[in-house]
Amino acid sequence: MQNKEEKEKQVLLKIIKQLIGVSAVLFVGIIILGVLLIFGAPDLSSKKPVITNTDEQKSEITPAIIDTIKYWKAPDESSLAANVSKALILYGKELVAHTADYFGVQGKVSRQATNGMNCQNCHLDAGTKIFGNNYSAVAATYPKYRARSGAVEDIYKRINDCFERSLNGKALAPDSKEMRAMAAYINWLGKEVPKGEKPAGSGLKDLAFLDRAADANLGNLVYTQKCLSCHQANGQGQWNANKTAYIYPPLWGEHSYNNGAGLYRISNFAKYVKYNMPLGVNHNNTQLTDEEAWDVAAFVNSKPRPKKDIAKDWPKIEEKPFDHPFGPFADGFSETQHKFGPFKPIKSKIDALQKNKEKAKKTT
Ligand code: HEC
Ligand code: HEC
Repeated sequence: MQNKEEKEKQVLLKIIKQLIGVSAVLFVGIIILGVLLIFGAPDLSSKKPVITNTDEQKSEITPAIIDTIKYWKAPDESSLAANVSKALILYGKELVAHTADYFGVQGKVSRQATNGMNCQNCHLDAGTKIFGNNYSAVAATYPKYRARSGAVEDIYKRINDCFERSLNGKALAPDSKEMRAMAAYINWLGKEVPKGEKPAGSGLKDLAFLDRAADANLGNLVYTQKCLSCHQANGQGQWNANKTAYIYPPLWGEHSYNNGAGLYRISNFAKYVKYNMPLGVNHNNTQLTDEEAWDVAAFVNSKPRPKKDIAKDWPKIEEKPFDHPFGPFADGFSETQHKFGPFKPIKSKIDALQKNKEKAKKTT
């Protein structure tokens, strides 16, 4: 009997406990309801920004490179006073941007004087893009000694270098209106740069050497995946509808730069491409790895292209750069290694020879 009573008591206790639990939950529920009624339900839509704030999310995934360097900026055209020199400067800019219209197949100034490319194809945004082979340092550093010619070059000679090599064409007369216009434009771009200085972001951005030779076969794969859609399978680029200028410039073949051009050195090509191609990238936002840039440079610069007589280039062979691919060389490395690398050993040999030369100079 005692047992039965005990059991009943326990059951009763259980029921009471459950009742207390339920009413506690109800009580809390009522309080919450009350609070909601008084202060209003939280606006669910206000949660949206958290979900759609993709900019913030992106920057968490791929932190933007925080670039604190103050780069050169082209002067503002609106600051040009309306006078003769303004007209000349703007004509110079037009010639840089649309060279083919003046010197190409149907050139207004002279026909077939070039391969049909524009200066701007390689000096992006009319020579103003940061690390896009811009002209910011030219006014401040020319005339200067250049080892390729072994002579002091002024800006006219330097512009003609690109005419004869990058545009595989004929030099202009230094006193022609077109030459004066391009020089005026380039000098105006760099007018605020102190004499002798290269501003941050000028020319091309340096690229680390690989430990191996650049590989044209690997470069072929890069080309197919990342370049072919615009520059075409045959590397000839794509003409506009009238065939007067290129929409996509050629990378090799008879309309491309010749073997004496700056881009024919694979370090220049790799630097240009790493920070500027595929079209739309820049130094803060690249697509190619360093290896891809070197390999595609090796691939493109192994293709046929016009030849220039460059026997007189680099008259002092000890001044040839590490990636000039034509001997004889003072450093003892082969033409193949000078063309594809590995460049580190060549560079250290050249530096060592240079040091010895300076030492010898001091002691005599
Ligand atoms: C196929 C590409 C290409 C084209 C087209 C081209 N250039 Fe160049 N240019 C280069 C490269 C690459 C360099 C840098 C070479 C080097 O440092 O060895 C350069 C250098 C220069 C420089 C010297 C820059 C400096 O800071 O020392 C000037 C000036 C120049 N080019 C003007 C022109 C003009 C004007 C045109 C058009 C008439 C032109 N270029 C067309 C590739 C090109
Ligand atoms: C979306 C199209 C596009 C793609 C993809 C592209 N390019 Fe270009 N490339 C251009 C255009 C357009 C220019 C000329 C830029 C200008 O005039 O403003 C150019 C210029 C060049 C030049 C200098 C001019 C010349 O013809 O010598 C080189 C070198 C070059 N590209 C290499 C490459 C390489 C290598 C790749 C692949 C990694 C690549 N490009 C991918 C459109 C493209």
